[in-house]
Amino acid sequence: MRPWLKKTLVGVGGLVGTIAVGGGGFVWTKTSAYAASMTRVYDSPPPAMVASSDPEVIARGKHLVESLGACASADCHGADLSGGKTLEMGPLGTLTGPNITPAGIPLAYSDGELGRLLTRGLKKDGTSVTFMPVQEFGWLPDEDIVAIISYVRSVPPVEKPNGVMAIGVLGKFLDRQDSIVLDVARRIALAPREQPPAPAPTPEYGRFVARLCTGCHGETFSGGRIPGTPDSIPVPANITPHETGIGAWTYEDFERLLDTGVKKNGEKVDPFMPIEGIARANETERRALWEYLRTVPPKAFGGR
Ligand code: HEC
Repeated sequence: MRPWLKKTLVGVGGLVGTIAVGGGGFVWTKTSAYAASMTRVYDSPPPAMVASSDPEVIARGKHLVESLGACASADCHGADLSGGKTLEMGPLGTLTGPNITPAGIPLAYSDGELGRLLTRGLKKDGTSVTFMPVQEFGWLPDEDIVAIISYVRSVPPVEKPNGVMAIGVLGKFLDRQDSIVLDVARRIALAPREQPPAPAPTPEYGRFVARLCTGCHGETFSGGRIPGTPDSIPVPANITPHETGIGAWTYEDFERLLDTGVKKNGEKVDPFMPIEGIARANETERRALWEYLRTVPPKAFGGR
């Protein structure tokens, strides 16, 4: 080999090696920080919540579980709450919502511990729950959280083992980069809970309801690929009033999407968009959501 070539190759090799080792170290630091955070036991006592057997409370809980809570969608805990379908998210990991019927997770939890899980993202042992988007619905007022617990305690128990939950290195890394949320409690366990106004068809209430859309459509609602997801996961649309979003939509177009799953352009919406849950939102919630989405700053597609 010619000396200059050898020298160049050694130089390039050294550079590549430095990047690989340096990058590897960076990733290792991030994944260790993730692991440390996920084993942290938070000092947050369970609230004094008690499940009710009042049929009205249970009916309110059923409504929330099937609509705003999004608990009963196929990708989450499933229609009978016995566990969702497994989501293969490539290098992000594999996610399956567990069995939350009385024969599943709630068996081991007190009512207060379930209340803490649903408002603080903390499991029975005080560590963070993985991926369950408490940051999107934990704003529900205490009486709604009690209604959810009451309903979950009332459904028929289903004996079914929990599916796979495994977070990949990319998932841990992107969580630490704040690109996706897997370590839920780190964001919310100790933060003050914002109080929503009473339900009304207004943007003020809609701002809370719309938290539900942020995990997919992004914090600014402008959509774009969810970081780290493989091509098999569809790309969330822009739902801001921008021309690349839903600027030209009317409330009737929005209602049609919820009721029939058909977008303004006449195509069927991808089933990854949890239409069956959002469609069960009542008139007040739908209006509030729509009114709020009209007030968010228009933003070009993909800004998330
Ligand atoms: C689990 C992820 C997910 C959640 C949660 C979600 N969406 Fe979507 N949404 C999508 C995806 C993906 C698409 C694009 C599907 C397609 O084009 O077929 C979409 C499309 C849409 C569209 C159609 C836009 C268009 O241009 O045709 C609207 C409107 C919409 N979503 C509103 C909402 C609202 C409002 C919420 C919250 C209440 C919400 N979505 C929650 C994933 C989600």
